[in-house]
Amino acid sequence: MPAHAPVFPNLERVLIDQAAIAARVGQLGRQIASDLQQELGRDADAALVASQIVLIPILTGSIVFVADLIRQIPMMMSLRVVAVSSYPGTSMVSKGAKIRGELPADLAGRHVLIVDDILDTGRTLGLVRSMIAEQRPASLRVCVLLRKALPRPGQDWEPEYVGFDIPDEFVVGYGLDFDGYYRNYPEIATLIPGMGGTQGR
Ligand code: PRP
Repeated sequence: MPAHAPVFPNLERVLIDQAAIAARVGQLGRQIASDLQQELGRDADAALVASQIVLIPILTGSIVFVADLIRQIPMMMSLRVVAVSSYPGTSMVSKGAKIRGELPADLAGRHVLIVDDILDTGRTLGLVRSMIAEQRPASLRVCVLLRKALPRPGQDWEPEYVGFDIPDEFVVGYGLDFDGYYRNYPEIATLIPGMGGTQGR
């Protein structure tokens, strides 16, 4: 039984605890920083680096992950958030990704990293990634904390950075929600079957 169970009802079990998340986020940050530094050149000055690196967190699920991740990437960068919704309310089946608001339009020639909490059906990231690719950034990569073990027929790309591969279970915590709740639960956990279900996110 998870330690926070009385405060956060209907949790079944912790899949990934806080220490494991923190350690992996640190590794991802170091890897991303090293890859960007290599691409931009070790001697690139701060102004050039600042103008070139753009992180695109996908709201709302990525907020906790991206807050921790960016503090593990010691480089000048800008953040441009994008809101996408696929699982409105209590839905556990993707209703199709819809972009709410506008995508940044000035990404040509920049090094872009899209950050999201989870790759499930891949519709959300597939949509955002393809729309950004049309702008011809200098590089385009995707970082997800979680990748579900699922067939994604027709998907011809994979995230360059993956925190954890997880089974096909509905998970909450560390930014991931059920009906808008549990985002502030600090670990990645499953819900009791029937209280959030066991099928797709
Ligand atoms: C969730 C999650 C990802 C997306 C993944 O977002 O945060 O962005 O679904 O699912 P997919 O790979 O099947 O597209 P959701 O639409 O629930 O919105 P939220 O981020 O506001 O929770």
